Amino acid sequence: MTKILILILTLIFTFNVHAAESNKGSMPKHEWSFNGITGTFDRAALQRGFKVYREVCAGCHSMKLLYYRDLLDIGFSEAQVKAIAAEHDVLDGPNDEGEMFERPARPADRFVNPYLNDNEARANNNGAYPPDLSVITKARRYGEDYIYNLLMGYEEAPEELEVGDGMYYNKWMDGNQIAMPAPIYDGSVDYDDGTDNNAAQLSEDVVTFLKWSAEPELEVRKNLGIKVILFFLVLGTIVYLAKNRLWREVH
Ligand code: HEC
Repeated sequence: MTKILILILTLIFTFNVHAAESNKGSMPKHEWSFNGITGTFDRAALQRGFKVYREVCAGCHSMKLLYYRDLLDIGFSEAQVKAIAAEHDVLDGPNDEGEMFERPARPADRFVNPYLNDNEARANNNGAYPPDLSVITKARRYGEDYIYNLLMGYEEAPEELEVGDGMYYNKWMDGNQIAMPAPIYDGSVDYDDGTDNNAAQLSEDVVTFLKWSAEPELEVRKNLGIKVILFFLVLGTIVYLAKNRLWREVH
């Protein structure tokens, strides 16, 4: 029995050490629905977050790893996904006459880029490139916590700091200056489900959406993790009991 206890304690200890490690650093942590070993994505939050992306961030940031049909995973219906895709035009072709043509996007198309190319993106943003947001929570240190704080981190610059032309003071950006104007403020996106649309809520929802886009397999992975742990606990118990039985005669 002691062995099983030791095994369980080791497991609990391993999880705690891991949790303590990720608390390092000065980045404030946010409470996320998807944290913890049983964490899941809140579908309503994902849909609201997509609305924020679509109405605000999509003006400057691409998400080229996403297909419109991926939105089915977060609870949109086929008809909704079709309608969302059809708001954008994509270049297709060549047709029988050898010409390229534009047509409305379909669920099987990738998210349409707001700019034709990187140069146009820079030219429209004071020379700075708005990075693709498909896997941004993985591409930045402190992931979702950093992005949440960044969105909420616009402030009056301290007097001694000279903020460059077309730059904005942000507490969390490297060097405290960012070429992105504050994208979110209280009430800047309307919600249809009655959720309060203050800046903190809008930021939390859009970051939840970005986390899903970067790690859509998160729920499946956690689920499998729990099953694997349970499997080993059961297997451990059986092996222990079998060992006791086999050695009973020897003692
Ligand atoms: C008006 C255009 C514009 C809009 C709208 C916009 N961004 Fe940005 N964003 C930029 C630009 C430009 C940069 C690059 C900034 C830089 O390098 O200084 C950027 C950078 C970022 C970064 C990377 C910061 C880093 O650490 O390098 C993140 C994350 C981000 N934006 C998220 C968002 C989200 C989320 C939204 C929607 C709520 C949004 N942006 C809306 C233009 C925009």
